[in-house]
Amino acid sequence: MRVLVTGGAGYIGSVVATRLLELGHTVTVLDDLSTGHADAVPPGATFVEGRVHDAAVALAGERFDGAVHLAASSLVAESIANPEKYRLNNVVGTRLLLDTLLASGVPAIVFSSTAAVYGEPETVPIDEDAPTRPVNPYGESKLAVDEMLAAEAATGRIGAVSLRYFNVAGAYAGRGERHDPETHLVPIALQAALGTRAGLVVYGEDYPTPDGTCVRDYIHVADLAEAHLGALASARPGTHRVFNLGNGAGFSVREVLAAVERVTGVTLEVTVAGRRAGDPAVLVASAARARRELGWTPARTSLEQMIADAWGVLRSGSDPR
Ligand code: UFG
Repeated sequence: MRVLVTGGAGYIGSVVATRLLELGHTVTVLDDLSTGHADAVPPGATFVEGRVHDAAVALAGERFDGAVHLAASSLVAESIANPEKYRLNNVVGTRLLLDTLLASGVPAIVFSSTAAVYGEPETVPIDEDAPTRPVNPYGESKLAVDEMLAAEAATGRIGAVSLRYFNVAGAYAGRGERHDPETHLVPIALQAALGTRAGLVVYGEDYPTPDGTCVRDYIHVADLAEAHLGALASARPGTHRVFNLGNGAGFSVREVLAAVERVTGVTLEVTVAGRRAGDPAVLVASAARARRELGWTPARTSLEQMIADAWGVLRSGSDPR
């Protein structure tokens, strides 16, 4: 297949692009490098620097058999401070990208959605029938795109799949997380272990969880990438399907930090602060539908393995260069 990967210079997108190439597909990456890195784009992919808003011009004349759309603004706190950025980049940007894809007859799109569409869940594990009540503009923007894709698929012109990620960790093929600023727990803890950051802060120890810290469901970036491949192969014009992607196991912030200490052998400098705005207490996925309908079988479910893979890349400084 000839596949367009938007956001293919980012953490998850570069792994998706790498796996597509490994399987013999032809890949074009569209990324504006606002948060991604040109050196993360795998060799063998065609790299087009540009925004999804300008896809019609940037990709003029190119034909694709499918698209994986990951380019987005994805910081919850920033979305609260600047909701219009999220509407412009995530909703308007996707609308314009979709118009470009439809005009050139692309039959399938896989979209990077999020657990944030569910907001504060009533029950866990969360399946795809749970109510969607995002509690921040980031989640709202992703839900708006899920709805946009459902409407477009209903016209029969395209097949769409929304993949709702829970917490992604790990590294693959030398590609790890490199966000600036970094907000995610695992890379922050690893930076503290490496000494490139002075300790870290636990946001809240008064949640209704066994140790008082938030519980999350961590999924390896390589397992996540496999789900994209399965979703792309299964997308059929006229259908929009939604899949939650996680391992169905919850780890508290304290448990993650203990795992980081075991993997790195470093005792972390940890201080406790108040809750971070917009953090639900517990987010754990039911990915039963993805297992059933996509035949998705995550192979790297160990939290320690995810942390060890991320640690290996961070420590070697071996982000692909
Ligand atoms: N945390 C800390 N200290 C830190 C960083 C994080 O205690 O320095 C805590 C957070 O408060 C949270 C947990 O670690 O309880 C996980 O936080 P992350 O920022 O790593 O991940 P989130 O669960 O906030 O974010 C993920 C995705 C987002 C998505 C969100 C939905 O990365 O894209 O889930 O809630 F929007």
